[in-house]
Amino acid sequence: MKFDEQRPPSVLMVCLGNICRSPLAEAALRLAAEREGVDIIVDSAGTGNWHIDHPPDPRAQAVALTFGGLDIGNLRARQVNVQDFDRFDHIVALDASNLRDLRVMQPAGSKAKLSLLLDHLPPFEGQSVADPYYGDEAGFEVCWRQVSAAAQSLLRVL
Ligand code: 4NP
Repeated sequence: MKFDEQRPPSVLMVCLGNICRSPLAEAALRLAAEREGVDIIVDSAGTGNWHIDHPPDPRAQAVALTFGGLDIGNLRARQVNVQDFDRFDHIVALDASNLRDLRVMQPAGSKAKLSLLLDHLPPFEGQSVADPYYGDEAGFEVCWRQVSAAAQSLLRVL
């Protein structure tokens, strides 16, 4: 964190539905920050609107609890909006399609830095976190491991 800034760094994690990958990424970053004693603001949103106000997918809730000891059942999906580009320092997309959508939405003059989550986890720069929604539980476990590793790595550069 930069010491000359008043506000803690803020990060918005963005996927498609905001019920699988981005809530897990949000939870993983919050956990990493707590463990390191780092003050940050973290939230998540989806580019799509199908799941607004829905809690995370039960399989996402299960991996957060099993592997992170975290109850994420209180999170509710929301859709990313133009104000987010002023409110957050970093908007971090879970996959390349989300990143393209965000670049289209970003208002001129917005200072939010857009990136892919795995850009922060060498050597996986440029890669997407696969969408586990249509798969089985194993995909959620892979997702949790990826977002956890990337969140720890991202924390070091905020
Ligand atoms: P997420 O997964 O983007 O990781 O939250 C998805 C959840 C729901 C849908 C697609 C992806 N859906 O099409 O409903």
